[in-house]
Amino acid sequence: MGQKGVDILGVDGKKLVQMLNAALSEEWLAYYQYWIGARIMEGPMRSEIEPELLIHADQELAHAVLVIGRIIQLNGIPVLTPAEWMKLASCEYAVPSDPYVEIILNQNLEGERCAIKRYKEIADFTNGKDHTTHQIATQILNEELEHEQDIEDWITDIERMKEDIKKIRL
Ligand SMILES: [Fe+2]
Ligand SMILES: [Fe+2]
Repeated sequence: MGQKGVDILGVDGKKLVQMLNAALSEEWLAYYQYWIGARIMEGPMRSEIEPELLIHADQELAHAVLVIGRIIQLNGIPVLTPAEWMKLASCEYAVPSDPYVEIILNQNLEGERCAIKRYKEIADFTNGKDHTTHQIATQILNEELEHEQDIEDWITDIERMKEDIKKIRL
């Protein structure tokens, strides 16, 4: 980053890079969680939900691009190995050992809620000080909120479908 950029940062740059590296690790784990979950998923509405999960996966990767861009601007060293993702991430990678659609969705939902916390934390940390990172964090936060809503809606639809099927059987 240029000298003026350093002068106006207004926050602890080292701490910020740590937070961004944690976020970067979480984005890669979220990407893989969506990507693998979409492919192995089984159960109701699979054909509708699978492509949507792959879109979420692509959006997580796009978040990683935004986050790494800012780390480099801040003269930070981005996380360099996949082994570090697990160490730095606060959001857990949930192994999709059961491919049932609702279980996969609930795992993804936990990940989204964790991402929402992460970007709220970064947005709060930079608010009114580092406008550039703040803008990136709020942009990503908005997309994570949309992801959470999408998943909640699919879970609601599946529950509704199961209730309807029960009524038909009675
Ligand atoms: Fe993300
Ligand atoms: Fe997300």
